Amino acid sequence: MAHAVQTPLRGTLQFRNVFIAVFIGTALVLAALILNSMRPAVDTAHPAAEGVKATGKCAECHLKETSAVVHQYETSKHAAKGITCLECHNPVEGQESLDHRGFTITSTLTSKNCAQCHTTEYEQFNRSRHAAPAWAAVKGAGAFTPEQLAHGEKYHPGAVDRPANKLAQLEGAAASPAGCEGCHDVGRPNADGSLGTCTDCHSRHAASVALARNPQTCGQCHMGPDHSQIEIYNESKHGALFAAQKQHMDLNASPKTLTTEHMSVPTCATCHMSGLEGMKVSHDVTSRLSWTLFAAVSEKRSNYAGGQDEMKELCLKCHTQPKVEAFYKQAEDVVLATNDKVSEVREIIADLRKDGLLTPEPFDESIEFMDFDMWHYFGRTAKHGAFMGGADFVQWHGNYELLLMKVEIEEEAAAIRRGH
Ligand code: HEC
Ligand code: HEC
Ligand code: HEC
Ligand code: HEC
Ligand code: HEC
Ligand code: HEC
Ligand code: HEC
Ligand code: HEC
Repeated sequence: MAHAVQTPLRGTLQFRNVFIAVFIGTALVLAALILNSMRPAVDTAHPAAEGVKATGKCAECHLKETSAVVHQYETSKHAAKGITCLECHNPVEGQESLDHRGFTITSTLTSKNCAQCHTTEYEQFNRSRHAAPAWAAVKGAGAFTPEQLAHGEKYHPGAVDRPANKLAQLEGAAASPAGCEGCHDVGRPNADGSLGTCTDCHSRHAASVALARNPQTCGQCHMGPDHSQIEIYNESKHGALFAAQKQHMDLNASPKTLTTEHMSVPTCATCHMSGLEGMKVSHDVTSRLSWTLFAAVSEKRSNYAGGQDEMKELCLKCHTQPKVEAFYKQAEDVVLATNDKVSEVREIIADLRKDGLLTPEPFDESIEFMDFDMWHYFGRTAKHGAFMGGADFVQWHGNYELLLMKVEIEEEAAAIRRGH
């Protein structure tokens, strides 16, 4: 145990060692501070990419704070390709900066952050009805800059330069954010001048094409009696087969090389967006459409022939021409017949208004709600059902209800006339 006994000499030596260590340490810290102050600001404000990888500081701390975010990120193509947290969270032009634990991040991320690396997708998205028209359908033209208005009107005349929706106003401000806006915010204008969000279909951190190809993702918004696309799809042969066979499909296949071998059954994304077997991928969900099915009385779109050719080219990857042509003929017959049924009833209402038996205001008399239900629920449902393979929606949720509504509206109109 002798070595444990401290001699006075050893004590002095130890003190000297500590003194020297502290002196050198302080000098090093001072030197580092001086050197650091001489580095360019961009270097100190934005640490090198290495420091912010999933293994880096953001992930290390966020694993303790919001671990799901990091786990989601780890599943993404972004993590695989070394895209860092900060490359997305960096403020881009027009965004407010936030000092955050030694980093400069933006307080709100938008499609503009994604557009840094995905310009093509942003531009396609930006000219679709998912962009300005979706928000204008609720909020009207007032929400947009003159440039955004002009851009939207160029592709969809009348769809952006329009008044705010009357029904949304009548239901009141409290109903809108979690209601109409919850779906229509896919095209909301952002403070940084960009439009909309990419994360409705891709999520914030998983950024996957598999998620976007899943029908349920579109079905978040494309559901319910006024646009029952997910219900129709689930009833269709396509939907039934997809549910049964999806585990054998490669939903992660790259859009650039997607074939029917990866996905032999179409989902919403396949028909409206995918680049199946050499076709162009498009974030413009409008490009393959030929009718305005959402309208009370549907019209041919200005790109009628082009839109239909593109969609048919897609069907033809899996079906033969006579089948596809017959299918389209049948669906167009339903559109024309529905137009007739809706127009006939709308004339009854227009006559009442002309004769001063209804106020000019919408949604203040029950017959106006009946008219709205007729085209907005049942007319649309019949047309969508016919184009996407939902027999029950053409029939019982569509044409049967159209017949019933016609009788009810005629009776109500007669009662209004008797009452005056
Ligand atoms: C030392 C821990 C730590 C580090 C490092 C860190 N964060 Fe955070 N972060 C937090 C905590 C805790 C919160 C919760 C809100 C708060 O208290 O600020 C948070 C909140 C956030 C938010 C939400 C901010 C808001 O206002 O809603 C984002 C986005 C975020 N962090 C991203 C990042 C990114 C990106 C990095 C790396 C560049 C990072 N964080 C580094 C701890 C950290
Ligand atoms: C592909 C781009 C992208 C990457 C990469 C990315 N984020 Fe995000 N992050 C987003 C978006 C978009 C939001 C939503 C922001 C908003 O709503 O304003 C978000 C939100 C967050 C939030 C707030 C979550 C909440 O629900 O409150 C945190 C925390 C966060 N990110 C941390 C991180 C961390 C840590 C990493 C790296 C491990 C990371 N992010 C990587 C795009 C990204
Ligand atoms: C710093 C550049 C960068 C930013 C910012 C960025 N990405 Fe990416 N993204 C990439 C790269 C690189 C890939 C991989 C491309 C490849 O493999 O072909 C990718 C791939 C993707 C994919 C394809 C994933 C798959 O499963 O194949 C999607 C979807 C995607 N990004 C969405 C987004 C969204 C949404 C945002 C914004 C929230 C965003 N990205 C922000 C660089 C970026
Ligand atoms: C569940 C999601 C969802 C909610 C909630 C919702 N919408 Fe929609 N809306 C959609 C979808 C999806 C379409 C596209 C339908 C189609 O093309 O078949 C649409 C279409 C429309 C259209 C027709 C297209 C156009 O640009 O003229 C209008 C108008 C509209 N919505 C207004 C509203 C208003 C106003 C509210 C609230 C009172 C509302 N929506 C609530 C999802 C929703
Ligand atoms: C966050 C809600 C939301 C999600 C998710 C969503 N959509 Fe939409 N979609 C809308 C709204 C709102 C409209 C109506 C825009 C308008 O015309 O006012 C719309 C319109 C459309 C249209 C009609 C465009 C036109 O020109 O009339 C198609 C097709 C479409 N969406 C396909 C899809 C597909 C495919 C997916 C999934 C990959 C999807 N949507 C996901 C909200 C959504
Ligand atoms: C087999 C292909 C196919 C599948 C799968 C499919 N659609 Fe469609 N969809 C069509 C066709 C065809 C039309 C009518 C095109 C036209 O106007 O010429 C259409 C019309 C639409 C419209 C109507 C736009 C308008 O004018 O109002 C929307 C919205 C839509 N689809 C969304 C979806 C969603 C969401 C899903 C999945 C739940 C889906 N589609 C599945 C082929 C498909
Ligand atoms: C309506 C849903 C929807 C929205 C909104 C959306 N995407 Fe996509 N995105 C998809 C689908 C579906 C695919 C896969 C297409 C396919 O199957 O070929 C995809 C594919 C991609 C890819 C991979 C493309 C490739 O060729 O490898 C990128 C990158 C991407 N999206 C980025 C974005 C960005 C950025 C935004 C916002 C500006 C955005 N997406 C908005 C549905 C969406
Ligand atoms: C990726 C391949 C693929 C695409 C694209 C596709 N389909 Fe199909 N479709 C199928 C498969 C697989 C079946 C089931 C055939 C069977 O019963 O063996 C099917 C079934 C159908 C059926 C039901 C046939 C029956 O007798 O029950 C119709 C109708 C149909 N498709 C129409 C279309 C139309 C119209 C389009 C384009 C808008 C289209 N499909 C696009 C793969 C596809």
